[in-house]
Amino acid sequence: MAEPGTPILVAVAWPYASGSRHLGHLAGAYLPADVFARYQRLAGNRVLMVSGSDVHGTPITVRADAEGVTPADIVDRYHAEFLDAWERLAISWDCYTSTGTDNHAAVTQDIFLRLLEKGHIDKRTSEQFYDAEADRFLPDRYIGGTCPHCGYLEARGDQCEDCGRTLDPGELVDPRSKITGATPELRATEHFYLRLSDFTESLGAWLDGREGWRRHVLNFSKGWVEEGLQDRAITRDLDWGVALPVDDLGEGKKIYVWFEAVIGYLSAAKEWAQRSGDPEAWREWWEGDDARSVYFIGKDNIPFHTIIWPAMLTGYGGLNLPTDVPANQYLTFKGGKASASRGVGLTIGEGLDLFEPDALRYALAASLPEQSDTDISVEEIARRVNEELVATWGNLVNRVLSMVNARCEGAVPEPGDRTADDVALLDGVDAALVTAGDQIDRVELRAALRTAMDAAAAVNAYLNATEPWKLAKTDLDRARVVLGTALDAVNGVRVAFGPYLPYSSAVLAEALGPVDAWRRPDLAVGRPVEKPTPLFAKVDVEALLAEGDGDAGA
Ligand code: MF3
Ligand code: ZN
Repeated sequence: MAEPGTPILVAVAWPYASGSRHLGHLAGAYLPADVFARYQRLAGNRVLMVSGSDVHGTPITVRADAEGVTPADIVDRYHAEFLDAWERLAISWDCYTSTGTDNHAAVTQDIFLRLLEKGHIDKRTSEQFYDAEADRFLPDRYIGGTCPHCGYLEARGDQCEDCGRTLDPGELVDPRSKITGATPELRATEHFYLRLSDFTESLGAWLDGREGWRRHVLNFSKGWVEEGLQDRAITRDLDWGVALPVDDLGEGKKIYVWFEAVIGYLSAAKEWAQRSGDPEAWREWWEGDDARSVYFIGKDNIPFHTIIWPAMLTGYGGLNLPTDVPANQYLTFKGGKASASRGVGLTIGEGLDLFEPDALRYALAASLPEQSDTDISVEEIARRVNEELVATWGNLVNRVLSMVNARCEGAVPEPGDRTADDVALLDGVDAALVTAGDQIDRVELRAALRTAMDAAAAVNAYLNATEPWKLAKTDLDRARVVLGTALDAVNGVRVAFGPYLPYSSAVLAEALGPVDAWRRPDLAVGRPVEKPTPLFAKVDVEALLAEGDGDAGA
């Protein structure tokens, strides 16, 4: 575990502003990052959590063409939608920006020029697909065809969504233009290339030295290096993108979105520093020996974060490589991979229209696809909310605060004479906090949530064993000791739930006082305890399925 005060960069995948993001994206990157960041802040570390909208690339230009609007129109629409979703979900960004800023262009160009100067970028002539009908060269996503690895018929020029491999359009079997449907022809053109092959040895050795990484991430990454790293074109035939800092290629070429998007982590840190009033402050997270950087992404983004970005950082020199890349597998929605573009599963906005933000956060966190693809549905979210969140945690809080209010003169009672069982309950809660903290630090977020829930269940079991509602009639003094103990236990358990449930945690902070460290806070004897209102509403599944999109629920 990190020493307190450790700078921790929480780097979160940049969502394409090409369409609504779905619950799979939320569970894949944004929610786990937020839980991790909230924990690390409470643990006393110096968190810088950054991301932004990925505003370039062909997903956006393809969409703009289809709608007959400009790429900027598309980007503005979805950037605003994302900002709204982050606010509703209380995602605690330190800087959420976009790749459309002047700062990002400048940082990208600086990296490009340094890599060029150091010989890691060179210029090559290649044969590239050209659509004679449309009279233009075709970027990857404007080409479709059959995957040479798995035979998937709808592979894109840049990646096969079925087997997950990244592709060069030239590898596709039966290529066709997505603009005109024509079979494209090959013509000579010039592009800049990143010499990834320069880094095969150093990245192989670096990956061999990684400890504590998820097995699927490490296996995938090592497999890539073992296949031999291919040099990759890092410019594209587009008007929409970050401009090249050199004019060797002439008009109509821009920096490839995947080369510049990963640079966003650095440019966002610099933007944050700029705004904080100390423009050099970003260095603490990028240059410090003690700093950690943890990248929250979905598994389709693994090679860009475990190989290409580390290669760029190595080539640039002086900047920290990722400490960990705890990529998630896919969240499947009733069997199929959730995908807003294919209309499968719920968008984040739809999820928030159906469920309270804490309820949605809870159910997704309990089903995070950390080690394998995980299936979810509206019914399953509702079941988890009702049977776990409301039944175990919500009811416990309600019970204890109500009884303290009614039986202890509306205030935190004196501890009194606690029995060994009373003390054991609180020791158990304190131990659960240590366990959950270690689990979150290792990015085992499902397990840490389980730890919190088990601790809540232990308090429920304690109440069922001691029955303070009966005791109150026969031995009020003992009843108050029990209720004071249960209240202290709830006061500890809420800390473990805090990173997952920001809204209800804020309500509890009103009732019990703020949480400002990862330990059970002191509870002042005599502090007023009011009659509570329930933390979470029970979900009416039938009504929900009737009102929600039939497909999502049926
Ligand atoms: N926009 C990409 C996607 O949605 C992710 C980019 S992550 C970044 O798949 F780091 F490259 F920005
Ligand atoms: Zn494939």
